[in-house]
Amino acid sequence: MRCSLKLLALFGVLVASSVCWAQGTDSGKYKGIGRTPTAEEIKAWDISIGISGKELPPGSGTPADGAKVYADKCAMCHGANEQGGIGPRLVGGKGTLTSAKPVKTIGSYWPFATTVYDVINRAMPYDKPGTLTPNEVTR
Ligand code: HEC
Repeated sequence: MRCSLKLLALFGVLVASSVCWAQGTDSGKYKGIGRTPTAEEIKAWDISIGISGKELPPGSGTPADGAKVYADKCAMCHGANEQGGIGPRLVGGKGTLTSAKPVKTIGSYWPFATTVYDVINRAMPYDKPGTLTPNEVTR
């Protein structure tokens, strides 16, 4: 009985010390790993555009410019007339979400053009995200 109590006490000490050791080394575990990101790196991730559009970069475009960008970089997936293809349909659908046949498009879900900018800038073309210039996204 005495022996098992001593063993139990020893076991307790071992568990307690290994917990302390683990905690003690935890704080030092990440020393020397990572660094403060550069301003340029932060800028590359800082691309969220809110609904007011105040974060938008300078850029401009016309519908005619946009048609060309679309034909070159989007139509192969979204269809020549945005009717959909291997990518989802992009046009129409506004006001259909509560109907029996909802048309799930950006027009039915997103009331702000700035959200469309954010998605296109962030995620499109699907196979080459981040490759569009601000002007191309705006168009
Ligand atoms: C390689 C195929 C491909 C190309 C090229 C492509 N897209 Fe897409 N796009 C997709 C797919 C697939 C989705 C759906 C992604 C998802 O649901 O996560 C999508 C989604 C979108 C959406 C969101 C639609 C929604 O209802 O949520 C928009 C807007 C969009 N694309 C615009 C564009 C624009 C503008 C271009 C050209 C600059 C482009 N896409 C190029 C495949 C593509």
